[in-house]
Amino acid sequence: MKVGVFIPIGNNGWLLSETAPQYQPTFELNKQIAQSAEHYGMDFVLSMIKLRGFGGKTEFWDHNLESFTLMAGLAAVTTKIKLFATAASLVMPPAIVARMASTIDSISNGRFGVNLVTGWQRPEYSQMGMWPGDQFFSTRYEYLSEYVQILRELWTTGKSDFKGEHFQMDDCRLSPRPQADMKVICAGGSDAGMEFSARYADYNFCFGKGINTPKAFAPSAEKLIEATKKTGRDVSTYVLAMVIADETDEAARAKWEHYKAGADQEAISWLGGQAAADTKSGSDTNVRQMADPTSAVNINMGTFIGSYATVARLLDEMAEVPGTEGVLLTFDDFVPGVKNFGERIQPLMKSRVGADTPVPSRVAADQPVAA
Ligand SMILES: Cc1cc2nc3c(=O)[nH]c(=O)nc-3n(C[C@H](O)[C@H](O)[C@H](O)COP(=O)(O)O)c2cc1C
Repeated sequence: MKVGVFIPIGNNGWLLSETAPQYQPTFELNKQIAQSAEHYGMDFVLSMIKLRGFGGKTEFWDHNLESFTLMAGLAAVTTKIKLFATAASLVMPPAIVARMASTIDSISNGRFGVNLVTGWQRPEYSQMGMWPGDQFFSTRYEYLSEYVQILRELWTTGKSDFKGEHFQMDDCRLSPRPQADMKVICAGGSDAGMEFSARYADYNFCFGKGINTPKAFAPSAEKLIEATKKTGRDVSTYVLAMVIADETDEAARAKWEHYKAGADQEAISWLGGQAAADTKSGSDTNVRQMADPTSAVNINMGTFIGSYATVARLLDEMAEVPGTEGVLLTFDDFVPGVKNFGERIQPLMKSRVGADTPVPSRVAADQPVAA
């Protein structure tokens, strides 16, 4: 199974809690995490784009770096790990994104790919006068379909004359083109999103579900398999999950209870309002799941809590779900989290046997990777 890290480009990672680690999303922090992930042979890092936070006492995600520029920086300080940035397709024209991707392909020597999102949170775009109106909730994947065709044309031929409802290219050019096949991620959960992934993406990312229920996301993987039967393309599922690990199950569980006790209710209720705003696209999956009160403290992303051995076993179970190629991990505390994954969890995982052994990296061998 491939393993990636959803690096904390926004403050406090993915815990909306006053009692979770509080930190800002600096380049230095993300560099340390990306280099550590590379050191332990992890496969990729991905950063999201988030343009408006949730507020509350923790100012959740009010502080966010920009995804492409962050990944360009990380491309220059890593050598092996793959890097994915997220394109906010509503506000970034495809010809510009195609060129930024070519640039990071050059910096990284072919290690770069793009996550395409339509946007689901109106204030991110209305704050800059760029929300096209609520009808966009129902047309957003038609828009993204035109968008990705232009990207693919530019990357593969260096030229696009695409004429659609949303975009009109006129002998649009791109050079240099990327040296590597540019991989495209989408995280569609709705029917339209899944159909988009089956037709145009290389990987579809979905939310893991529940606490220590590693196969609960299986219906999403199955839905993608069904969708790809219609398009005849090879698109695999990657699962988003949080790891909260410690020496014992009890110690890990105590951390989780501690984070839940400090839940930032103001930020969580803002998230609930945003998730409810989309009444058009039938997105009853990922976005609504985020705000479900069960464990909104980590946006219900599917959570593995336990000793290092317990988490390794649960991840191995997840890998058995048909259609699943990888997992995208978040941690309650990323720096020790990645180190403990590399040193304590990964060596116990049957689904990681054969994973690359640690490579010499800019993390000096005689220095602890984590603080
Ligand atoms: C791993 C992952 C990464 C995502 N990254 C972003 C992001 O950076 N920005 C964003 O607006 N939405 C992001 N989303 C939301 C998805 O793009 C998508 O809108 C959501 O999963 C709901 O699916 P739907 O669009 O088919 O309704 C992400 C979702 C997942 C699971």
